[in-house]
Amino acid sequence: MNGIKARSYSVEFKQNGFNKLEKLIENNDYSSVFVIVDTNTREHCLPVFKKEMSQPFDFKIISISPGEEFKTIISCQNIWQILSDKGADRKSLIINLGGGVITDMGGFIASTYKRGIDFVNIPTTLLSMVDASIGGKTGIDFGNIKNQIGVITDPILVIIESGFLKTLNLKEYRSGYSEMLKHGLISDKDYWNKLLIFLKKNTLEILPLIYKSIEIKNKIVLKDPFEKNQRKILNFGHTIGHAIESYFIKSDHLEKLSHGEAIAIGMIIEASISVDNCSLNQSDANEIKNVFDSVFSKIKIDILDQNNIISLIKFDKKNSHGNVNFVLLKSIGFPIIDLKVTNSQIKKGFLFYNS
Ligand SMILES: NC(=O)c1ccc[n+]([C@@H]2O[C@H](COP(=O)([O-])OP(=O)(O)OC[C@H]3O[C@@H](n4cnc5c(N)ncnc54)[C@H](O)[C@@H]3O)[C@@H](O)[C@H]2O)c1
Ligand SMILES: [Zn+2]
Repeated sequence: MNGIKARSYSVEFKQNGFNKLEKLIENNDYSSVFVIVDTNTREHCLPVFKKEMSQPFDFKIISISPGEEFKTIISCQNIWQILSDKGADRKSLIINLGGGVITDMGGFIASTYKRGIDFVNIPTTLLSMVDASIGGKTGIDFGNIKNQIGVITDPILVIIESGFLKTLNLKEYRSGYSEMLKHGLISDKDYWNKLLIFLKKNTLEILPLIYKSIEIKNKIVLKDPFEKNQRKILNFGHTIGHAIESYFIKSDHLEKLSHGEAIAIGMIIEASISVDNCSLNQSDANEIKNVFDSVFSKIKIDILDQNNIISLIKFDKKNSHGNVNFVLLKSIGFPIIDLKVTNSQIKKGFLFYNS
């Protein structure tokens, strides 16, 4: 499988990726190599990673607790401290082996440590393969707000090994699938339809779909790496989805949602707003709702929670000058950016989701 050329790096698949990593380590003469994992990827993915390398090489493991609640400045401080204590210098390399929490936070740690050291992403969840590990966005959550602090810095290499997915649970698998469906909705109706076939016949291979999703995201990022314009389309479902995700993390009475689950709800609500605000057909909005409803179980969001979520939306990073900007759909495959939406349209969207 051919690699995909990104801005200053490439996304390589399977053995090609690991071969390239070995060459990079050999040619760049790194003073030390650190592998950041969480306890799950340490158990399930680190042994696979070690086996993939043709010869053992010397690296130090930094392990954190798993989960979004650890994507914080405190985790960064701990890891920066370990790097300092272990003598990491500007010629050190960080390898992020994990899901989106590890690639986002590990990328941020590498980009800021000594003003930036090289890092490689080896995503181990479906979501991080098709989304988080590519495109250069790194960062952490701060206060109640997702990804409030961060920088855009590219890794030097991304390696996709779909074999890591064997140990991923269904909840996390679906989370990544949700972002893949988003790729179809924002750019390619044929791909959307292909994903629906995959949903019905789970005998199809996932790797070609992962490849297609990476191609879609990469093409968008190449045109607008710093999200001045068209890259915003990747945020479809996220204006509401991020607020829902943050709200569920912080509320003791609610069960945590996966990122993909939260943005699936966001996409259903934003599809409903698209009917009101753009020209999306009601039948397309219904199709979008039915598809996500078939992937995720229904979450109850009552009026009080809806109001709290709506007030969180104003912290969204996509806002400017106090306005909340939405990405909506004209039709499946055709998004529009920078649209203003009223609170009553959002409430109507919640009604549609709950229906
Ligand atoms: N930078 C971006 O462009 C971008 C895009 C989308 C999402 N994100 C971020 O990604 C994060 C979500 O990523 P995620 O869904 O991968 O979450 P995650 O990193 O928390 O991983 C989910 C869970 O799966 C476990 N896990 C990972 N790989 C495994 C494997 N192979 N086998 C068994 N368990 C495994 C993890 O330990 C964790 O418990 C969010 O913080 C989101 O903001 C970033
Ligand atoms: Zn996302």
